[in-house]
Amino acid sequence: MVSYTELGLVHTVDLFKKAVSGGYALPAYNFNNLEQLQAIIQACVETKSPVILQVSAGARKYANQNLLKNMAKGAVEYANELGCNIPIVLHLDHGDSFELCKDCIETGFSSVMIDGSHYSYEENVALTKKVVEFAHSRKDYVTVEGELGVLAGVEDDVSSEHSHYTQPEEVEDFVKRTGVDSLAISIGTSHGRTKFKPEQCTRDANGLLIPPPLRFDILEEIEKRIPGFPIVLHGSSSVPAEYVQLVEKYGGKLSDSVGIPEEQLRRAAKSAVCKINIDSDGRLAMTALIRKVLTEHPEEFDPRKILGPARDELKKLYSHKNINVLGSANRV
Ligand code: G3H
Ligand code: 13P
Ligand code: ZN
Repeated sequence: MVSYTELGLVHTVDLFKKAVSGGYALPAYNFNNLEQLQAIIQACVETKSPVILQVSAGARKYANQNLLKNMAKGAVEYANELGCNIPIVLHLDHGDSFELCKDCIETGFSSVMIDGSHYSYEENVALTKKVVEFAHSRKDYVTVEGELGVLAGVEDDVSSEHSHYTQPEEVEDFVKRTGVDSLAISIGTSHGRTKFKPEQCTRDANGLLIPPPLRFDILEEIEKRIPGFPIVLHGSSSVPAEYVQLVEKYGGKLSDSVGIPEEQLRRAAKSAVCKINIDSDGRLAMTALIRKVLTEHPEEFDPRKILGPARDELKKLYSHKNINVLGSANRV
């Protein structure tokens, strides 16, 4: 058993307090491999941003949880070596059982999400409360994110055909009864690169899909009911057209891609939304650059030469998010 403080990691309580009062959101970037982690740390050190490193159940299966934990420990040392001791959180993304959350807590995670959003309201309350009681009773307090409302979208381990917006009248009761530290809500974001069906969108002059706006009215109603309480947005990739076009130029097929416009995320980040989850944009950036290198240099077979440019592009993407979208730059 190891506690996150031994790894140099922090939980989210103070970071969220600062983010809510400062009108910005913390980046929550998923990682599964070395290049993603290098890019995240390099970008967050350079922009002086705190960061939440997210590990999904799929990432644990892919990369091995012990390796991931030790990579997070290495990330703390790497950030120091790069010259800035940024706060780093290691967070379980979409934990789906008490046992998974407990296992992560006991092996060094400083924060977990228990995603009971697919259960009935009462089952969600009971499961979330059980995780909170365990997490908060540790010598080193581990923070817990719960979820109310269902996001649409399909990923490896996170899938739902239809979304259900969060019902504002439930949030106060949920937060009070579970004791969660933050709450993920559903206001129109969704997982993956096809966040809306084309028929839900309009098109601009260039034929690009324009999605319907997020439900800021629901967010405002929630903020009224739990003032200053940390809110989390999942499914917040913007699915940049440049990356989609680059992937397609080099042989990929990503039809009907559509994400959340950056200006809407910026608006959300200025509210009580203090954690914004981004995974798909990183996947797109990496895929675009890998395809480009392999197409332009068919003789190349050194993985470092193939993954290096993808890592550089990822770093650019994350820096841009911190500075221009989340507002988390220069908050350390
Ligand atoms: O919300 C889900 C994240 O994008 C993680 O996806 O389960 O494929 O690792 P994953
Ligand atoms: P995206 O698929 O929009 O990047 O969302 C990621 C996410 O919510 C991880 O929990
Ligand atoms: Zn998510």
